[in-house]
Amino acid sequence: MSVAVTMLVAQTLDEVERCLAEAARAPAPFLTEAAGHVTLAGGKRFRPALVALTALLGDGDGFAGTGLSPERQRRIVDACVVVELTHVASLYHDDVMDEATMRRGVASANARYGNTVAILVGDFLFAQASAVVARLGTEFVALQASTFARLVQGQIAETRGPESGEDPLSHYRQVVADKTASLIRTSALFGGMIAGLSQPQLTALGRFGEQIGVVFQLADDLIDITSDVAGKDAGTDLREGLPTLPVLLLRDSDDPADLELYARVVRGLSPDEVPGVLTQLRTHPVIDTARAQIKALAETARAKLEALPDCPARTELHRLCDEAATRVS
Ligand code: FPP
Ligand code: MG
Repeated sequence: MSVAVTMLVAQTLDEVERCLAEAARAPAPFLTEAAGHVTLAGGKRFRPALVALTALLGDGDGFAGTGLSPERQRRIVDACVVVELTHVASLYHDDVMDEATMRRGVASANARYGNTVAILVGDFLFAQASAVVARLGTEFVALQASTFARLVQGQIAETRGPESGEDPLSHYRQVVADKTASLIRTSALFGGMIAGLSQPQLTALGRFGEQIGVVFQLADDLIDITSDVAGKDAGTDLREGLPTLPVLLLRDSDDPADLELYARVVRGLSPDEVPGVLTQLRTHPVIDTARAQIKALAETARAKLEALPDCPARTELHRLCDEAATRVS
């Protein structure tokens, strides 16, 4: 991997941490504490890393000697902060809806401060993201607004479930695209816009972001079943009666026991049924099928990179596709 790219991304992400702490500060000490609670508890920072990387597309290794201009570096950091704050704001809300108890290895905000505070802190963080995106210009604001709309639509569609006559798998795919891939696509596009990519290149980058975003959420949903992830509640989707990819694949089976298992999840499991169903699913062939489908989608995402300038940052995006596939291995 290019040393220049690694160093620039690492520098950017350090600065992003400082700015996130600043964005989480409020006149009221309680709000500062509650806003920092999940925001600063760690997290993969996948979206900011994607912005930081795509912002270097097209520039070869030319930054190695000179670095980025302060103005450009400022814009990259701002864009990183916008996507991470938007993501964290959505998590404050999501944990209320999921009645989650843990997030990023700490008590979730709803568990610690109650639902009302958790929702309002999410709103505060989203407001802080809006203040930062305003500095980037109207094109960025417009993209942020349409992304917010997709996040909300995805979450509502997930909560309602498929409409009558709607195929549950297509419904699930749409939910995943809207609630997760939309913001990952935006992260890639923010970087590409700062890099000054052409419109056709931005179109390809947007498609890449959307696709890798789908892979990311499908992998997350699979991991929710297959492993006891540190820092999060395992089996959350099952507890909520949300069929994700492996469960939806049960519908293709000829075995009535599989169809019954699917029906049980959708009807809703009692909390004491969840561990048994988790164990049953973990040894079921649908896990391998889901895994193979996720890997194939990561390959489709990789193919979209061909339209982008051949440079060290693009090589890094290839590595991201490998990582997305190995997360579920
Ligand atoms: C996590 O999904 C949740 C999301 C990816 C988006 C949720 C979106 C909203 C609540 C609406 C947007 C709101 C704001 C303020 C921007 P998950 O429950 O599958 O993931 P998890 O396992 O990490 O909880
Ligand atoms: Mg959740």
